[in-house]
This record gives sequence, structure tokens and C-alpha cells, in this order.
Amino acid sequence: MKTILITGGAGFIGSHVVRRFVNKYADYKIVNLDVLTYAGNLENLRDIDTKPNYEFVKGDINDSAFINELFEKYQFDGVLHLAAESHVDRSIADPMAFIMTNIVGTVNLLNGARRIWKSGNEGHRFYHISTDEVYGTLGETGLFLETTSYDPHSPYSASKASSDHLVRAYHDTYKLPIVITNCSNNYGPNQFPEKLIPLAIHNISQNKPIPIYGKGENIRDWLYVEDHAAAIDLVFHEGKDGETYNIGGHNEWTNIALIRQLCKTMDKKLGREPGTNEKLITYVKDRAGHDLRYAIDSSKIQRELGWAPSLQFEEGIEKTVDWYLANSEWLENVASGAYEKYYEKQYVTR
Ligand code: NAD
Ligand code: DAU
Repeated sequence: MKTILITGGAGFIGSHVVRRFVNKYADYKIVNLDVLTYAGNLENLRDIDTKPNYEFVKGDINDSAFINELFEKYQFDGVLHLAAESHVDRSIADPMAFIMTNIVGTVNLLNGARRIWKSGNEGHRFYHISTDEVYGTLGETGLFLETTSYDPHSPYSASKASSDHLVRAYHDTYKLPIVITNCSNNYGPNQFPEKLIPLAIHNISQNKPIPIYGKGENIRDWLYVEDHAAAIDLVFHEGKDGETYNIGGHNEWTNIALIRQLCKTMDKKLGREPGTNEKLITYVKDRAGHDLRYAIDSSKIQRELGWAPSLQFEEGIEKTVDWYLANSEWLENVASGAYEKYYEKQYVTR
């Protein structure tokens, strides 16, 4: 039996990864470490939380003494590190939590692994889950490769870039067995409604304005979250030591085209006249330092590990909308009072 630590497992992507590992690997004990910030929600894991190979530990990766004790106690064989502050707009409003969790928290975990694996790295792996935002922004053409220079622009992406460098430094300096992936924008069930797609779904269902930053011309490359979880599973088991793999959907959309598509899908689902939801689109003040375009070249993981996205975007969006409409209680529960205050501060209508 292997004992695997997954950090941030109560969040959006982490909960899909935890579910996949708990259901698929009965011979792994999965320990989900999460401090439960506003973004962490144990409701996301209700269907698997009584399984015998699953354990939840509430704790903060910023607490080095606690992390060292945890590694000593469980003697983890592997780590999948997803815990992070993840929202760009929050990083612009208040960078320090991002510096602490994304940089210092990552180093605490690296140190914890280094302490218990010093007798040998055989069978061990520290997997750091990162983002395409570390590469900065693209113009109208080109794709991010694993060799693209880092050029982050937001406090969030700078903190993730910093953590990527530290993970590689522990590999090169201490021979810690690591692997890193940099993924594009995820969407799907259980995403907190501060991110574009769930925020728009929430607002459309409540007939509230859909805020679009600037002119809506920024481009993102969208991937269904379960396709990301499948890639994570593959890289954890078959990725090469010390390597980086880019993960993306080859699925670029301007924000405005994506929102128009979502409006059409939701007109149908909600039985509204065609064109009704588009009237909710509202242009608001642009994000500071807003990156124009992200697009991933995922040919390395496709070629070397045989991964490919399984869902077309239209299908993925439909599944996502269906999930949010069927789980309106989940959505209302997370859209709590604290979230509303943040929301009012963030959105200044032009
Ligand atoms: P999320 O914000 O939904 O979840 C983050 C989780 O980490 C939450 O459960 C939170 O409680 C937990 N957490 C935060 N600070 C912690 C701390 N100090 N100690 C312990 N737990 C803590 O994030 P997500 O969107 O699921 O992203 C997960 C990871 O994937 C992040 O590292 C992010 O950078 C990366 N990523 C996200 C995307 C995306 O589109 N969402 C794309 C590529 C990479
Ligand atoms: O690229 C991967 C990254 O994708 C992850 O590393 C981040 O954790 C994740 O949050 C996401 O970052 P983005 O900034 O791209 O995602 P977000 O959903 O915040 O915004 C997507 C696009 O939509 C972006 O161009 C900003 C725009 N936007 C966003 C919001 C919240 C709007 O126009 N209006 C909005 O209200």
C-alpha cells in the first residue's frame, strides 16, 4: 500500500484528482491536506469521503513544523501538490497570501519530502501542478512550449513561476525526484464562481449582469477539468523524472465568444427566448496587467505519454452547465456573504 499526499484536494481541480485516485487506486491511501480557504469545500468530495483508502487532514502548508510532523507521521511515498491561492484578481488586490501559500508553502512541502526521502528516492515523486500563466502572454500567433521563457505578469503567476523554479532547484541541488506540469484554463463542475465560466453561469441563472473585462478580446485555451485530472494521473505514474509537460485543450476562445456561446446554451437549457441571456453582457473595467492570449502546445505529453483531451468544448460546456443547474444548492452555498463583499469591491461598471 502506497501513501500519497494530495494538497488542495478540497478545491476545484484537487477534488477531481482526489476522486479519481481514491476510486481508481484501491492500493493507495490518499491523504488530502487542505486548510479550507474560501475556495476549499468538502462538499466536493462527499461521494468518496467514507472510502477506506481516503483521509482528510485539515492543515496549512504555510506551517513548516506541522508539515514536517505530517511527513514524519505518514511517510508519504508521493506528493501531488495542488494547494494554492489561484485567482488572479485576488492576487492583484492582495498579493501576500499568494507569496506565502504558493511560494513558502511549496518550499515547506519540498523540505518535508526531502527530510523523509533522504535515504533514497526510489519509488518517490514530488509532483508540482502549475499553470501556463508563468509563460506570460502571447501575441496573435505562437504557442507556449515547455522551453518558453518565464515572463509572469500578475502576483499570482509570479508566485507560481517562483514555486516552479524552487521545485526545479530542489531537483538539481538535492536530487529530489520531481515532475511539473503547466496547464491552461480549466472548467467544469465544482469551480468556485469567481472564475469566468461559473461566475457567468451563476449570473445568467439569476438574471444578473455578466461582467466582461475590457473589450472581451483576451484569449484563453480551455480544458475540461477531468481531462486535466487524467493527464495528472498519467504524469504522476509515467512522467520522466525532472521533466516538465505542458497540458492544454487546443481550444482557444476570446472571452466574448465564449460567453456568447454559453449564453446560447443557457437560453436553451433555461427555456428562454434566443438572445435573452446575451443582453446580460456588461463590459467592465479591465483587469490590471491583463494577459492577452494563452495557448498551449501539448505535443510533448501527447507524443511521449499518449495523453489527449477527450471532450470537445461544446460537449464540455453542456456538461458543465447541466452540473451547475442540477447543483444550484452547491452554487448558492459557496456564493456566501463573504464572497458577495469581495464581488462588490471587484466589479466597477464602466
Ligand atoms: P482552487 O482555488 O479551487 O483550490 C485551491 C485549494 O487549495 C483550496 O481547496 C484551498 O483551500 C487550498 N489551499 C489554499 N491555501 C492553502 C494552504 N495554505 N494550505 C493548505 N491548503 C490550501 O484552485 P484550483 O483552480 O483547483 O487550482 C489547483 C492548482 O492548479 C493550483 O496550484 C493552480 O495554480 C493550478 N492550476 C489551476 C488552473 C485553473 O484553471 N484553475 C489551471 C492550471 C493550473
Ligand atoms: O491559465 C491557467 C489559469 O487560469 C490558472 O492558473 C488560474 O488559477 C485560473 O484562475 C485561470 O486564470 P484566468 O485569469 O485566465 O481565469 P479567470 O476565470 O479569472 O479569467 C478568464 C478570462 O476571463 C480572463 O481573460 C479574465 C476574464 N474575466 C474574468 C472574470 C472573473 C472577465 O472578463 N470577467 C470576469 O468576471
